[in-house]
Amino acid sequence: MSPNSVISEGFEENRNLQISNKFLTRSGISGQGMFSADRFRPACHSSGSCAPLVRQFWNAGDYEVQQFVGPASHNNQNRLCVHPKFLHSNATSHKWVFGAIAELLDNAVDEICNGATFVKLDKIINPRSGSPALLIQDDGGGMDPESLRRCMSFGFSDKQSCSAIGHYGNGFKTSTMRLGADVIVFSRCMNKRVLTQSIGLLSYTFLRQEGYNDVVVPAVDYYFDPSSGVFTNLLRNGQKQFSSNLSMLLKWSPFLTETELLKNFDDIGHHGTKIIIYNLWFDDMGNMELDFESNEKEIYKQLYLEPMLIIDNDIIVSGAPKQVETNNNSVMLTQNYIATRLCFSLRAYSSILYLHTPEYFRIILRGQEVEHHSIARDLKFCECIKYKPQVGGRIEGEVITTIGFLKEAPLVNVHGFNIYHKNRLILPFCQVACTSGSRGRGVVGVLEANFIKPTHDKQGFEKSSLFKKLETRLKEMTYEYW
Ligand SMILES: Nc1ncnc2c1ncn2[C@@H]1O[C@H](COP(=O)(O)OP(=O)(O)O)[C@@H](O)[C@H]1O
Ligand SMILES: [Mg+2]
Repeated sequence: MSPNSVISEGFEENRNLQISNKFLTRSGISGQGMFSADRFRPACHSSGSCAPLVRQFWNAGDYEVQQFVGPASHNNQNRLCVHPKFLHSNATSHKWVFGAIAELLDNAVDEICNGATFVKLDKIINPRSGSPALLIQDDGGGMDPESLRRCMSFGFSDKQSCSAIGHYGNGFKTSTMRLGADVIVFSRCMNKRVLTQSIGLLSYTFLRQEGYNDVVVPAVDYYFDPSSGVFTNLLRNGQKQFSSNLSMLLKWSPFLTETELLKNFDDIGHHGTKIIIYNLWFDDMGNMELDFESNEKEIYKQLYLEPMLIIDNDIIVSGAPKQVETNNNSVMLTQNYIATRLCFSLRAYSSILYLHTPEYFRIILRGQEVEHHSIARDLKFCECIKYKPQVGGRIEGEVITTIGFLKEAPLVNVHGFNIYHKNRLILPFCQVACTSGSRGRGVVGVLEANFIKPTHDKQGFEKSSLFKKLETRLKEMTYEYW
């Protein structure tokens, strides 16, 4: 158990989610003996008695919270309760769906040190409902029963290495809940010479429909018994608890039987993690936010008669701008450049998301490998400029910026700095200089600034004085270069 845990005893199965005290001040915890098991009971006892779930992410948090009833029991003294509504409000940190997907890619990339060689993203069909679901799978180290529960709690990060992208222990929850109402995780792991496989369910639908006032995460585990050669139920809290969790999984997951559920491990191998996000959110127009049907080819067909780039296997942000056809070369080149495409094509965004990954590591999007794109290689007349920010006379870091003109400038009307943090793209083509005149146009830079802190959604940086200094320096750099 992480030293950050609020609760000193172990994580009880099927109990409310926990929050690391990294996220809390003392005043965040009620001083009055807290929340009881009775209070954790569903507020609406019969399924369907709550208001129906809306399918639009931005509206899904708008519902009346039921009053807690019943006395506090001693069992749950000092426990912190997390209301299901928090799953939603926590996920609003991701304004952009691809920002949420990037978190799950980060978790797979962080597994490279534990053997991951690939992460794949794909559409699958939810066998229960027949609707599309998002699959993210890697062959990293996987999670043992304890880690899986920590992964589904808040604020617990197992990542010790300072080079890991994950740090806050919140990415899995914010991202999965931003993408869909429900997520099921399958993970296989070898730890202390015991091979285990675990399944956990974080389901907003289940919690809402059953009217829970706290977050219950049903999970079951199995261990490989070398004497029998088969996976056997791992009873952390007895057979009754196992069966109860399993029946919740079979009621609320896409899988109707234990055999169907366990079939998910067939393609996991000796270690790895499979995440299935289902009941994906819809946009305001009633379309699924992730569009698995259109692809860049179709969009580009609408944009230009002769598409420069033809890729079928992609995931598109629904409602991507469909621009008018034009013979204007500059508009055409600008629209085809990655700075434009990354806004709606996951293939484009994931191709620049990491500065570098080992050559053997592959991101496979809908069956086709994503080709890494180096923005620095798009530049001509390159210069490398070192910057050492100082605060109070003390050097706070060092960063080398590669700066140049885009090879197609001035036809391609794109400029700005691609600011990475620990290998991960945080700000793509961030405009720091005013380019309303011609000064600075077509100037693009790439840098990895590890001395500043990304915001929790990893789509921006904390507006610290160091960040402001960096912005100022990049602005000067643009004009000096020009
Ligand atoms: N794909 C994965 N493979 C193995 N472990 C994972 C994976 N995704 C998440 N985890 C575990 O769950 C923890 C919480 O993940 P997350 O909420 O994204 O926070 P963070 O990445 O900041 O640690 C991670 O520290 C890691 O131990
Ligand atoms: Mg993470």
